[in-house]
Amino acid sequence: MKIILLGAPGAGKGTQAHFISKYLEIPQISTGDMLRSAVANKTELGLKAKDLMEKGDLVPDELILDLVKDRIKEKDCVNGYLFDGFPRTLDQANSLKEKGVEIDCVIEIIVNDEEIIQRMSGRRVHSASGRTYHIKHNPPKQENIDDETGEPLIQRPDDNEETVKKRLGIYHEQTYPLVDFYKTISKPGSLTTYVEINGIGSIDDIQSQISENIEKIKQLLVLSTL
Ligand code: AP5
Repeated sequence: MKIILLGAPGAGKGTQAHFISKYLEIPQISTGDMLRSAVANKTELGLKAKDLMEKGDLVPDELILDLVKDRIKEKDCVNGYLFDGFPRTLDQANSLKEKGVEIDCVIEIIVNDEEIIQRMSGRRVHSASGRTYHIKHNPPKQENIDDETGEPLIQRPDDNEETVKKRLGIYHEQTYPLVDFYKTISKPGSLTTYVEINGIGSIDDIQSQISENIEKIKQLLVLSTL
């Protein structure tokens, strides 16, 4: 299955992507995680992206499209994949469409800006894997330590309130138009399903809403092959 997770920064895309990827056994393709890894490794892409990311700006479309184009050619993508944080502009979405990539499902996680600003100050991240925690809503077993590796957690440099507000502004201006774009694509008769999820509530409840919808979509996909 090919899925896009859509939602504002901090809506819980990464948290739910981790779950969906295990549930469907498909890779999570997070352009944010890929860029952070490029920054940490000081690659050419990382050097171009670092300042933009720290300021909360988007990285240019052409750099992102090259990154994604190469990633989806890898072997583990043969049975599908989950885009987390991509596409983020109409140009990115159009480019995906022009390349003939058929998306089975777009899942929008809806959370208001006030809740997001509160959430971000409590986020802690394991840099190497992108695993995400929250000091109150999803704490690690041991304070500031990743559950799986025992390595320390960090606070992302773009998680301060001022930068979060800027990222939200960019989301509303440049990414939110994708809601209409994909709702239009998913009109009756299309094989793309658009799902809206209320992202406020416990992480487990949101997981259940998502898995129920995924099961329905699996059935639709089976029916479409009969
Ligand atoms: P990216 O890493 O993609 O960041 P983002 O989209 O801004 O999203 P976040 O990772 O901040 O949030 P999330 O929705 O994953 O929330 P999470 O699950 O962590 O991008 C970073 C930067 O890279 C961009 O600013 C840009 O510069 C660049 N970039 C990346 N992709 C790009 C692209 N395609 N084009 C151009 N530039 C690109 O949850 C947030 C917190 O809330 C966590 O602490 C979590 O534990 C907690 N939480 C989750 N669910 C709940 C819940 N239900 N209740 C309470 N707390 C919860």
